[in-house]
Amino acid sequence: MSHYMGRRQALAIIGMAGLAALDVFAKPLSYESLENDFKTTIRILTEAYNLEMEANAMYVSFSERAKEENYPNIAYSYKTFAISEKIHANSFAVILEKLNCALDTGTSIFKANTTKKNLLTSVRHEMKKINEIYPGYLEALKAEGHKDAIMSCRYAYLSHKQHTADLELVGKYTENFFLIVAATAEARWLNYHVCSLCGSTSKRIPPAFCQICGKPKETYIHVSRP
Ligand SMILES: [Fe+2]
Ligand SMILES: [Fe+2]
Repeated sequence: MSHYMGRRQALAIIGMAGLAALDVFAKPLSYESLENDFKTTIRILTEAYNLEMEANAMYVSFSERAKEENYPNIAYSYKTFAISEKIHANSFAVILEKLNCALDTGTSIFKANTTKKNLLTSVRHEMKKINEIYPGYLEALKAEGHKDAIMSCRYAYLSHKQHTADLELVGKYTENFFLIVAATAEARWLNYHVCSLCGSTSKRIPPAFCQICGKPKETYIHVSRP
């Protein structure tokens, strides 16, 4: 009898440990309840996941095109952005998996244009994410209060926002002065690192902690040139 009770207690402890590992602890625990409690969160994270995976495919193709056109630094920057976008997508996928949501993980294919047009396309995409999409997601996520979802969206938003000044310059001058914009980019010293947790990009590893997610600098991975 005492053996039976011990086993039952052990199972109860294991069960509690499993529940504590979910960041939705204290919420109803069936998958159906999770889906009902976090309907908006699930919709937004699914949309954000698709958006980031599309951006990943877009930047992979832009990087290849820039390399073909002999703009190695632009190619390197696009490769770095592609990695950052994938990190954002993965962070959303992890939360959706905990919420029992299946994702369409098929690969997107994106056809690049000339590097001049690609620069203008990426500026439009990035500025829309910074000014409209992520602020909208963060506002809509507030009501359900899923902490990990809000944190992941905030990290993605802030890591996109890091590039605002460069994006504004590229957006302003590329149409009429593309060759000068490209030459300026190619003259720069670049050595990219990406935070594997939040997708933050940096030309140098931060001295101690990631400026976006606050995790130790060891989370940064070096990006090799394409
Ligand atoms: Fe992103
Ligand atoms: Fe980070």
